Amino acid sequence: MSRKQDVIAKFKEQFGYEASDLIHAPGRVNLIGDHTDYNDGFVFPAAINFGTDIAAAKRDDKLVRVLALDCNGEFEQFDLADIQFNTDVMWVNYIAGSLQVLMAELGDIQGMDMVVAGNVPQGAGLSSSASLEVAVLKTAAQLNSLTLDGVKAAQLGQKAENQFVGCNCGIMDQLISAMGKIDHAMLLDCRSLTFADAVISKELSIVIINSNVKRGLVDSEYNARRQQCESVAAALGVPALRDVSLAQLEAAKDRLDDTAYRRARHVITEDERAKQFVDALASQNLSLIGELMRGSHNSLKDDFEVTTKELDGIAEIVEGVIKGQGGVRMTGGGFGGCVVALVPSDLADIVTTTVAQQYPQRYGLTPDIYVCTTSTGAFREE
Ligand code: GLA
Repeated sequence: MSRKQDVIAKFKEQFGYEASDLIHAPGRVNLIGDHTDYNDGFVFPAAINFGTDIAAAKRDDKLVRVLALDCNGEFEQFDLADIQFNTDVMWVNYIAGSLQVLMAELGDIQGMDMVVAGNVPQGAGLSSSASLEVAVLKTAAQLNSLTLDGVKAAQLGQKAENQFVGCNCGIMDQLISAMGKIDHAMLLDCRSLTFADAVISKELSIVIINSNVKRGLVDSEYNARRQQCESVAAALGVPALRDVSLAQLEAAKDRLDDTAYRRARHVITEDERAKQFVDALASQNLSLIGELMRGSHNSLKDDFEVTTKELDGIAEIVEGVIKGQGGVRMTGGGFGGCVVALVPSDLADIVTTTVAQQYPQRYGLTPDIYVCTTSTGAFREE
């Protein structure tokens, strides 16, 4: 049974009537441009073939009832008129928070019954939470006939996460989940929220390797990084690090402490790498793709300090196999999670088998490896 058939069948079983709507929102992998989105900079993500499916129907009252198939089949319910943060069951906060911000911006909605199933690995840096937020927002908008476009949905999802869940994330994950295009990545300008689709050649494969390092202190370290970046921007008298050139940063070096300087250097150089990646991908310049991804990984390791020894090790193992034909880097927020490799398709198998063999030997951990395909965002119409 497909995941879609599964949520439809489980809905009938759980609630005793048929779902009226079926919604999907994808997770994402970021090919380059990490920790730049909340600095108003540039990112280069693609929507992937892992995501969240929701079967739903509108209710006559204000009750929201949810069965979460991939969270141990847990069932939760809450009243839209009295939304509270749930300290015991985390997943329900992404739903409650999204509905709260939706109502604050677009007006009251009716309650609903939902069955939710997600296959984005959780806590791996592939945006399981953003795909849940975007799927929930689309579900609520559709059931209540509200006008909601993908960019607005992304903003609402981000707001839910910032204000309700408590992670000060940027806009990347929600926006690609809403507006990604199959067979493409996108160069997203996180200030103007405009984006350009960029074809990913069929001759390239996206290999995602989950280090399965349990991520610790993710939210607090993430929020601390954001704070550091904002302090440097304030010290330099600009709205965001997007507005600072490397030359300007160098000129101000004496006024900044070393950590603040390195954090800003990562963001400024990463923005440049993300922009250069567009041409590298379009011209299938595999060695430039490799150089830019290595530059990004090193910068996230040395300047931004968000990699782990396992992420560094996986990148090294992959580089040993591909030898400059394509690239590899950590992806997402860091502190554990995944590495992404963009490689000629005929190397995908050898990358997979080599990592599967060498990573456990080096670190005593078993990786999960996915050769991914791209997919379409929940709100994308063409
Ligand atoms: C997380 C956040 C994003 C982004 C990345 C790092 O995925 O949710 O907004 O900041 O980390 O690039």
